[in-house]
Amino acid sequence: MNGNIILKLFINLAISSIVIGHFVQENNVDDSFISVVKFDTDVIYYSYHIHVYFLQKNTLQRNEALLLRKRFLSEFNVTICPNHCDTWCPQICHWDFNRSPTGPHPIGSWGVYIPLEQFIRTVSFISMYHGNLSVLIHPNSGHPKIDHLLNAFWIKSIVSLRKNQLSDNAPPPSSSYRILN
Ligand SMILES: *[C@@H]1O[C@H](CO)[C@@H](O)[C@H](O)[C@H]1NC(C)=O
Ligand SMILES: *[C@@H]1O[C@H](CO)[C@@H](O)[C@H](O)[C@H]1NC(C)=O
Repeated sequence: MNGNIILKLFINLAISSIVIGHFVQENNVDDSFISVVKFDTDVIYYSYHIHVYFLQKNTLQRNEALLLRKRFLSEFNVTICPNHCDTWCPQICHWDFNRSPTGPHPIGSWGVYIPLEQFIRTVSFISMYHGNLSVLIHPNSGHPKIDHLLNAFWIKSIVSLRKNQLSDNAPPPSSSYRILN
């Protein structure tokens, strides 16, 4: 390769890393972690979360995230989540708009709790209107680390989550909660 091509490649790489803001990595998990989930393991999905990501210092992306959130909350009549609801909440609900990294989310984000029966409509909506934003859709089985890193779905691109912020186990929902078969 001549020096000119190498220089152009370097400039392109530098520009794209500045535009994207960071290098997107996969949420690699090691073999010992993967082997925790056996094919015949009895896994129950109680609910899902949708998390929408944006680069918090990029005004365009932040505004896009705010607008998408407004439309989503209005489309599905979403109210604020009560305290201590995560794996199971009484109904569809939302958390705060995070203007900075929060918990396992390494960049700006907003999130909603999705009951199983609203999965298709909400995920279809977010797939249609996510625009430039990356989206994580993860189940809640009572094992946050596996739910986020191994069994999740991503739209657009994978955002590298902060693994040390995810616990192995979460308390299961109380037996009074209805579970769909
Ligand atoms: C949202 O609430 C409005 C007014 O109460 C109602 O007409 C509409 O059907 C609700 N939409 C959903 C998706 O529940
Ligand atoms: C996505 O980003 C491009 C370039 O910044 C912008 O023109 C476009 O309007 C954005 N899309 C949405 C849905 O905001």
